Amino acid sequence: MAEALQQLILDTLNQLSVIHDTRALVIPGQTGPAASQDAQIAVLGALNSLQSREMISYETHETSSHVLTPEGAQIVLQGSHEARVWAALPIKGEGEPIGVQDLKRKIGDEAAKVGQSRAFKNGWITKEGSGFVKAVPTIQDITQLELREVDSTGTLKAGEKAVAELRKRKLIVQRKGQWFTVHKGPNFSTSIAKPETDLTVDMLTSGSWKSATFKKYNFEADGIPTSGGAFHPLLKVREEIRNIFFEMGFEEMPTNSFVESGFWCFDTLFVPQLHPARELQDTFYLSDPSTSLRPPEDYYKRVATVHEKGGYGSIGYRTPWSDEESHKLLLRTHTTATSGAMLYKLAARCRGETIDEHGNVGDSGGDGFRPAKLFSIDRVFRNETMDATHLAEFHQVEGVVADRNLTLADLIGFMRVFFKKMGVTDLRFKPAYNPYTEPSLEIFAFHPMLQKWVEIGNSGMFRAEMLGPMGLPKDVRVHGWGISLERPTMIRYGINNIRTLVGHKTSIEGVETSPAVMF
Ligand code: PHE
Repeated sequence: MAEALQQLILDTLNQLSVIHDTRALVIPGQTGPAASQDAQIAVLGALNSLQSREMISYETHETSSHVLTPEGAQIVLQGSHEARVWAALPIKGEGEPIGVQDLKRKIGDEAAKVGQSRAFKNGWITKEGSGFVKAVPTIQDITQLELREVDSTGTLKAGEKAVAELRKRKLIVQRKGQWFTVHKGPNFSTSIAKPETDLTVDMLTSGSWKSATFKKYNFEADGIPTSGGAFHPLLKVREEIRNIFFEMGFEEMPTNSFVESGFWCFDTLFVPQLHPARELQDTFYLSDPSTSLRPPEDYYKRVATVHEKGGYGSIGYRTPWSDEESHKLLLRTHTTATSGAMLYKLAARCRGETIDEHGNVGDSGGDGFRPAKLFSIDRVFRNETMDATHLAEFHQVEGVVADRNLTLADLIGFMRVFFKKMGVTDLRFKPAYNPYTEPSLEIFAFHPMLQKWVEIGNSGMFRAEMLGPMGLPKDVRVHGWGISLERPTMIRYGINNIRTLVGHKTSIEGVETSPAVMF
């Protein structure tokens, strides 16, 4: 259809040299009149396409015409309201006058009301008793005649004023339109050769490029989005949480050791060696190599002693200590393994020692205890059965604050500030149990979308049995908390199945288009 129309325009131009008025074209496939707006819109499409190849040029002419509103169309069929009122009444002296209620019943409320006052004004009807009768034997329904004229010609010979009156009465509306005058362009021809889009080797060798017409570049077109890397939603949220920590003066811990020993993941944290979390069904153990190097000997002894016999005000677990359990290599189940190691380093400074990354002890010059604010966001592993909210690996966000004489109120106050920066303001704390903290608190937040309280994290004051063997001064208290990175990310992006956030079911497009979230 589009090509047929282009061909028609070219053929007509070939015959006439100029098409003065495109409304005179007989358009292929068009059933309505060529002057109709739909037809002229199709013509415009064809003209633009031909003009882009400089085969033609054209000028646009604006038109304004009028069409009937539904009410106007009804009047064309039934007559104006005033004419219908007149027609419903008896001739004076020839019948019973008709009252308002009867008139309404006969021709409808609206027509009776509007028609009655107009018929009066025109002198067509008159009052008799409590009703109305015809005042004249014949009338001429000008409104109906005018509307018929507009319907067939789009305008009125009677002129602007009459048109304005019908518009005011909302019987007609203006419709703007266009038509075109068409001239030949520099590339005029009657054959529409499809322009070439590529310059090919064949065209170069055969020389056909010399006579070929090429499609013009469209510099207005939107480009294809470049395929670049994109941050996974977890990384975006991680970055924002990192920034909150930095803003609050925290230092990032080095959490690059996915493999830890039972000693650093559990023993140093005073997790009993028989704790269920250490069993095979909860923790992944390495088979090759299966055992770790020996930790610093003194510290190892102090940790073993506090488990077996107690100390620092504790009676310990009073169960035999197992070197084997302590040396097992495993995939860390929490980043608290690193927090413990960092606190041990902090304590070493107090003792006047330094420890390098291989655990070698040196001399720090004894510069004593310095308060510390540490955080990490990294991956941990648990032998979980996978479901909509659990994977065998996830990310933990963990914060640790060490200072003299910290209290539980400091921990709670701190978490209120921290979570507020993440946009979470309604917090509740519930007493809980962790082997390495006392007291321990579970953190709940009110979820506005789910309209309920959900658990978002775990926290507490680290136990003396953990801090004592490290050698931290007695009045140094350490509080810590951990949340998962996946939960806030899923809430932010409205994801309810973790398998669509991580793993082969993740939508790459979703990753590329998901916005940064800003807490
Ligand atoms: N390690 C804890 C967990 O796995 C989180 C936590 C960190 C709790 C620090 C208390 C202190 O949930």
